[in-house]
Amino acid sequence: MENGKAIEIKELCFQYPDGTDVLKGINLSIHRGESVGIIGPNGAGKSTLLLNLNGILIGNGRVEIMGMELNKRNLKRIREKVGIVFQNPDDQLFCPTVWEDVAFGPQNMGFSEDDINKRVREAMETVRLSGFEKRSPHHLSLGEKKRVSLATVLSMTPDIIAFDEPSSNLDPNSQKQLIHTIKSLPSTKIIVTHDLYMAGDICNRLIILFNGEIVAEGETWEILKNQELLNRYDLPLGDRCRVCIK
Ligand SMILES: Nc1ncnc2c1ncn2[C@@H]1O[C@H](COP(=O)(O)OP(=O)(O)OP(=O)(O)O)[C@@H](O)[C@H]1O
Ligand SMILES: [Mg+2]
Repeated sequence: MENGKAIEIKELCFQYPDGTDVLKGINLSIHRGESVGIIGPNGAGKSTLLLNLNGILIGNGRVEIMGMELNKRNLKRIREKVGIVFQNPDDQLFCPTVWEDVAFGPQNMGFSEDDINKRVREAMETVRLSGFEKRSPHHLSLGEKKRVSLATVLSMTPDIIAFDEPSSNLDPNSQKQLIHTIKSLPSTKIIVTHDLYMAGDICNRLIILFNGEIVAEGETWEILKNQELLNRYDLPLGDRCRVCIK
């Protein structure tokens, strides 16, 4: 079922088992090829929303990915379509070597050995960590782990990539490279970030999530220029961003 939408979410509500109500009726459409930023203060529900995109968490409501309704029976196919780069790389990396972590997705998808090797090589080149394949992920620096986490998703070439705080803990050069890498990816992108400068550079549309609800959405620069709106939701512009808007 082709409908031009990468993601369609209707009335999504999510509550953690301890009773914490997090998502309160999210409605969201994302077209194929879009780059959408999700911004909002700590605890707004941004990570929870991303985890609902590939069924790591399943709430009440409807989530459709590339025209396919997400349910417990099609999680494998959904996860081939949506890759999530987690906020914390320790949640993503679990193999003894970097190579195994990056190869894990393509292996599960049933690619040939040659294809797996090619995918790992290309993903490692994209995150500029060629040569790290035999290293233990647990002995890498935090910034290196974040880049390997991205490689574990890139190696699957999913239609949609959701990034949770991709630029945190990266040095300035790695942040610049990351922005360049994300922009060059052909997939539909969803980027959760506190870095409004990066959001401004990459995203065509921004969504403000506050207290589990979408409280504003619009073209990136319309949102970033609206000082009163940003202040209302505790989203002050950094100096870098203010310079760009002037
Ligand atoms: N496993 C859990 N059990 C109970 N509550 C949780 C759990 N994980 C998160 N929460 C709560 O859900 C709310 C939303 O958390 P979430 O991690 O989605 O926020 P966030 O917008 O990603 O914040 P941040 O900017 O700090 O990453 C928070 O109040 C958090 O305390
Ligand atoms: Mg988060």
